[in-house]
Amino acid sequence: MNKIIFSGVQPSGNIHIGNYLGAIKQWVDLSNDFEESIYCIVDLHAITVPQDPKELRKKILEVAALYIACGIDPKKSSIFVQSDRPEHSELTWILNCNARIGELSRMTQFKDKSGKDQEGVSIGLFDYPVLMAADILLYGSTHVPVGEDQKQHVELTRDLAQRFNAKYGQTFTVPEPIIKKETARIMGLDDPTKKMSKSAASPFNYIAMNDSPDIIGQKIKRAVTDSGTDIKSGSDKPAMTNLLNIYSEMSGQSISQIESDFSGKGYGEFKEKLAEVIVAYLRPIQEKYSKLISDEEGLIEILSEGSRRIAPMAQKTLQEAKSKIGLGVKR
Ligand code: TYM
Repeated sequence: MNKIIFSGVQPSGNIHIGNYLGAIKQWVDLSNDFEESIYCIVDLHAITVPQDPKELRKKILEVAALYIACGIDPKKSSIFVQSDRPEHSELTWILNCNARIGELSRMTQFKDKSGKDQEGVSIGLFDYPVLMAADILLYGSTHVPVGEDQKQHVELTRDLAQRFNAKYGQTFTVPEPIIKKETARIMGLDDPTKKMSKSAASPFNYIAMNDSPDIIGQKIKRAVTDSGTDIKSGSDKPAMTNLLNIYSEMSGQSISQIESDFSGKGYGEFKEKLAEVIVAYLRPIQEKYSKLISDEEGLIEILSEGSRRIAPMAQKTLQEAKSKIGLGVKR
């Protein structure tokens, strides 16, 4: 069986090092092990909460540029915009008719995002995981590299695929999530008990992929630390565990090596060095990004080509699902 990766990022908020370490970096590392890799810019997911139209268009191109700047090669992988392919919305409807209100009500991300106002949020926000299932199932995806917060959605995708296959006969490939333990959940700099988040109220929660060296320095300086003075990770030290984890991922050094290098030294010195490590890591990505983002036509061409390339896969799966159910009379 062909190994096919599928994943995506929402073009909303500021894409941060949590998105990068939890998802995009894995895609780059995995691309060569798969016959097909497909990376989507999930704009239909973004509109589950209000978006400014001009900003949304701008963000779509920014995410495309960022994918490529991070090392996704558009010649080897297909990069496309979700709303360019109508099959995503159409398969969502079919899956909706096989999904249950109970199982969607149990999605922790929906509970978090809707908060106390479940009556007032959009139906799109509630249905978001079914759209995500459609994204994945349309391409026969075998593997879905994501951060920990998307695990439950991939599990729902598996359930929906299995349920459909059992009812109508083998149609969908049942995908596996790929979650890298060390980077599954990068925590907020201002609150290490919650994940780093694009929609955080304060920019001091995250390091955006496009933050300048100055801003990175300020954010790391202000990052919350644990009580005590040791540069050590551990279950009783959530803040330092998170910072050490970021340091390790971006420097290539092991946590124990970093701990021993900083033994007897203070938080101030550690933070200064951590900011340097992040700045140096992001510099080549940022340089590549600024070139790409200034060529809007080039980006649009890459996205159109990606969409054209994968269209036959999506059309075939959708047609198969429709005919299994008995929809339409086309031969
Ligand atoms: P999104 O846009 O919220 O996040 C994009 C990716 O980043 C991961 N991520 C994190 N990883 C580690 N630490 C964090 N603090 C952190 N925050 C975010 C997410 O897990 C995700 O992998 N519904 C998805 C997008 C989507 C998708 C799909 C993904 C739509 N269809 C199909 C895979 C397959 C989302 O909103 O991700």
